[in-house]
Amino acid sequence: MKRMLSGIKPTGRLTLGNYIGAIRNFVAYQDDYEMFVFIANMHAITVPQDKAELKKNTKDLIALYLACGLNPEKATIFLQSDISEHAELGWILICNSYIGELQRMTQYKDKTAKGETGITAGLFTYPSLMAADILLYDADFVPVGVDQKQHVELTRDLAERFNNRFGDTFVIPEPLVTKVGAKIYSLQDPTKKMSKSDENPKGTIDLLDEPNVARKKIMSAVTDSIGIVQYDIENQPGISNLLTILSSLTGEPINDIVHRYTGKGYGDFKKEVGQVVFDFLTNLQLRYKEIISSGVVEKVIQDGNEKARHIAHKKVMKVKKKIGFQIF
Ligand code: AMP
Ligand code: TRP
Repeated sequence: MKRMLSGIKPTGRLTLGNYIGAIRNFVAYQDDYEMFVFIANMHAITVPQDKAELKKNTKDLIALYLACGLNPEKATIFLQSDISEHAELGWILICNSYIGELQRMTQYKDKTAKGETGITAGLFTYPSLMAADILLYDADFVPVGVDQKQHVELTRDLAERFNNRFGDTFVIPEPLVTKVGAKIYSLQDPTKKMSKSDENPKGTIDLLDEPNVARKKIMSAVTDSIGIVQYDIENQPGISNLLTILSSLTGEPINDIVHRYTGKGYGDFKKEVGQVVFDFLTNLQLRYKEIISSGVVEKVIQDGNEKARHIAHKKVMKVKKKIGFQIF
């Protein structure tokens, strides 16, 4: 069975974008791949985090993984900071990364271009840590949203560089970006990514939003004056985004939805999207509450950590031997 790995940072509340672009795929793949999913809390601290909030977001993320349908019997779910090998291999890979290639990473480039101050060294080197996350587990595939593809490509470069220099050590991973839903856009500015860090709460749907509030956000989503329900990302980004959301949550192909709405207006269409989102969140939150009160979260992480640690440890030992750290 091929191996697959991915992670999400426990920063802020998870959005519908995280679900459609990432978690939904983890769940879909867990039957056909050996799946590893982790909480990227070491990546979270590349920007300052409040201690209490970080703890809450971490627990919530684990519970939401489970509520979204990840099954700990099939997928290994673990906490990054509990496996110290991530930091160890991360450092070794930082020492094999060039400043120039890290400077080309979009996230860092955008922040510096905006003139942001207080950018940490961790934010700059974090793609190398992400490479360690992936290479520790010999992952064949890494399902991510389109914004993360660049980091998986860097991971491939680092793995090839290391293999060439020290001999075959790492599996070269491939990014896996879904066709529909790789990028969900803000409901208020459909040219921008729906993001946890959006200042306008009306633009994002949080997985823990009151279902009624979420429905209202859909009803007030920015559209256009063309008046035809069709997929046209250039001229109708808002409607196209809603089509993507509806299709992702129901499985109905976009073309079929468009066909159903021939000759109908945006009002009916938005109502349907609003209802589907309402139902989806209601069911998800019911499961989330059960999971949080059942105390299962701790056990899932303990079991997942144990499995992950074993694999990561073996890989780091191999790497240390290759580079000359092991002298006896
Ligand atoms: P982040 O929220 O940046 O930690 O992202 C976690 C995962 O969710 C990554 O695989 C992202 O690519 C994915 N993701 C985040 N926001 C979106 C979005 N608006 N649309 C699609 N995927 C997303
Ligand atoms: N950098 C990713 C994000 O911001 C999270 C992440 C960290 C990740 N390590 C990873 C994703 C390894 C896939 C594989 O969303």
